Amino acid sequence: MTPLRTERLILRNWEERDRELFHRINSDERVMEFFVMRRHRAESDAMMDWIAAGIDRNGFGLAAVELADSGEVAGFCGLHLTNNIPGVADGSIEIGWRMAPEFWGKGIAGEAARAWRDFGFDHLGLDRIISFAVAGNHRSTAVMRRIGMTARPEHDFDHPNVPDSHPELIRHVLYEMLPGDPRS
Ligand SMILES: CC(C)(COP(=O)(O)OP(=O)(O)OC[C@H]1O[C@@H](n2cnc3c(N)ncnc32)[C@H](O)[C@@H]1OP(=O)(O)O)[C@@H](O)C(=O)NCCC(=O)NCCS
Repeated sequence: MTPLRTERLILRNWEERDRELFHRINSDERVMEFFVMRRHRAESDAMMDWIAAGIDRNGFGLAAVELADSGEVAGFCGLHLTNNIPGVADGSIEIGWRMAPEFWGKGIAGEAARAWRDFGFDHLGLDRIISFAVAGNHRSTAVMRRIGMTARPEHDFDHPNVPDSHPELIRHVLYEMLPGDPRS
């Protein structure tokens, strides 16, 4: 992909030097509070390779978020093709984010998400972008609202990949944005 630039960030495909950070955001208890899966290093490496290949293929994906001034990578943010989400056609585009905790509370996820939102509507010509999260993941739904997305409670759903052993992680809320919606 051609990297996207914002005021503070470079959104780009993954590089070898990112593997440690990528593993940390897939195994850290705070970051993964709303996910069942914790990935070992080998699983995390395989996931990074899978995401990187998708970015090469599609020109977008869950890209690395690099701070332009320091070169540090904070986490990932990007557009992703959905699969197996109840009430959502496979191949619909969602926007998602995951940052290491030391980069929370600085507006980094929001800044990256706005760039991907604009890329989706203005470059890819998408007619809808969705996002979803565990109902209690208020930090994530706050990002959705901050960038101009709207809750669509009629489309909230029980995630089919969450096992009954984690009932608190099953219910998901869905937000959406259309091209003409106000961008904030
Ligand atoms: C979800 C997640 C990315 C949100 O990160 P975040 O830093 O809270 O979100 P933003 O980038 O929008 O930052 C907003 C915060 O930065 C603050 N901020 C500081 N400087 C700012 C700036 N220059 N511009 C904008 N906001 C700024 C805002 O006031 C706000 O603070 P608040 O949370 O105290 O109200 C993060 O919590 C995370 O990675 N969670 C774990 C993974 C996860 O759950 N992912 C989503 C799965 S659906």
